[in-house]
Amino acid sequence: MPVSCVAASEVPAEAGMVAVPVFAGCVLPEGSEIKLDVAFLEGAGFEGTVGQVQSFPTGDHTLTLVGMGSPDEVDAETFRRAAAAIVQAAWRTPEVTTTLLDALPQDGIDRMRAARAIAEGTGMAAYEFLAYKSSVTPCRLETVTVVDPAAGSDAVVQRALDHGSTVAEAVRLARDVVNEPAGTLTPTRLAELATEIADREGLTIEVLDDVAIAEAGLGGLSGVAQGSHEPARLIELRYEPPGEASATLALVGKGITFDSGGLSIKSADPMMTMKTDMSGAAAVMAAMSALPALGAQVRVLGFLPVTENMPGGGAIKPGDVVRIRNGKTVEVLNTDAEGRLVLADGLSLAAERAPDAIVDVATLTGAQIVALGPKIAAVLGNHEGLLDQVRRAGERAGEAVWPLPLPEEYRKDIDSDVADLKNIGQPGKAGAVVAGLFLQEFVAGVPWAHLDVAGPARADTDYGYVKKGATGVAVRTLLELITTFEPLS
Ligand code: BES
Ligand code: MN
Ligand code: ZN
Repeated sequence: MPVSCVAASEVPAEAGMVAVPVFAGCVLPEGSEIKLDVAFLEGAGFEGTVGQVQSFPTGDHTLTLVGMGSPDEVDAETFRRAAAAIVQAAWRTPEVTTTLLDALPQDGIDRMRAARAIAEGTGMAAYEFLAYKSSVTPCRLETVTVVDPAAGSDAVVQRALDHGSTVAEAVRLARDVVNEPAGTLTPTRLAELATEIADREGLTIEVLDDVAIAEAGLGGLSGVAQGSHEPARLIELRYEPPGEASATLALVGKGITFDSGGLSIKSADPMMTMKTDMSGAAAVMAAMSALPALGAQVRVLGFLPVTENMPGGGAIKPGDVVRIRNGKTVEVLNTDAEGRLVLADGLSLAAERAPDAIVDVATLTGAQIVALGPKIAAVLGNHEGLLDQVRRAGERAGEAVWPLPLPEEYRKDIDSDVADLKNIGQPGKAGAVVAGLFLQEFVAGVPWAHLDVAGPARADTDYGYVKKGATGVAVRTLLELITTFEPLS
């Protein structure tokens, strides 16, 4: 059960905890009636930095101070992190009320953005994956009541909170699907789940099975799947906006439910987390599940090539050649570079629909992790205006996204002796960039951005609203991009 965020015009009497924002240096927002003993707080180590909390039992409830940092630097991310800190502090308290909106900056993000961010931080921070725990003490928090400092606008604040809760719910869905073990989350099961979600939320869905995939000429997806007992699926989702669509966006998500590496098999350590290799597909599916509730104005098409990458007896062999949907042939020299093969088919299908733009999301390369680490995604693409929108969407959504180039000079690295392309470049040289150059061959000149989230897809510790395990990365960036998309010139 997710935590619900509700708006109110004053602090309800029954709150078990009241959480109050405090700026750096223990300065309270203007108009606050609380008196703080600054010397005592500083002695206790509370300085009001973002996400710091200090709780006090009072007569009828717990008073929790929540650090907001410098008042000039308060932005949406501050509210997300502050909300997450409240959830942490209130883990065992069913009802919490907060006056966080009192910390709204004079000239910065507006109240609606702040309210959204509070609901996002709350829902994401309350996430737990307990499906396989026999003995659990789950979070007891049920309701966070957000006090609206401006009188009479509860309904508007409530709409913003609902928007944020919907976004958080999508992130939680993506985390659940990625955290689910590959033994149960097979391509077949993922397609069933996508069907349930599509039916429930009002999206259109079409699923191609292994036979239909081969008939459709998706040679990259078929090739990767042939070493597994589990049949592949191609999932196509569609969101049609209520009015006339302002644009059409196509999303493509890498859906390798388990990446053993295939015959170019991975060693034990890097293989341990490879159930994460369908994070791109999970992000696209989860983001699209939220579009009807958010009332997005853009038509969105989702293409999810889903398969295991296994070294079974029928597995694709280094040196084999596959033919991608768009007709190009690829020499597969390393079967562990499988993501680009299935994405090539997904991108080809997307490009056939001539959308205004294509965005793909993939845990594509270890090189992305070398370049940017676990907290920053790489973005690459062929259209500056689109790249800029993706970057800014990421920034507003609180997901760090940084550009890498697509240099023409490196294109020859993926020339093959026997086919149109080979699926690897030079070892140890710009792996994330070369993978991007490979993908570019399949977008037919449509404006396209590629998000490599190999690092950010997993967290190895809890931090703020991110929980150890699957992060649900890219869901927020995609939703922000879709709901603010401006036609490209
Ligand atoms: N799924 C991996 C990339 C990955 C690595 C994701 C670590 C998350 C964490 C991908 O399929 C892969 O194996 N890429 C290879 C490509 C190489 C063989 C050209 C890589 O990056 O090592
Ligand atoms: Mn791989
Ligand atoms: Zn992979």
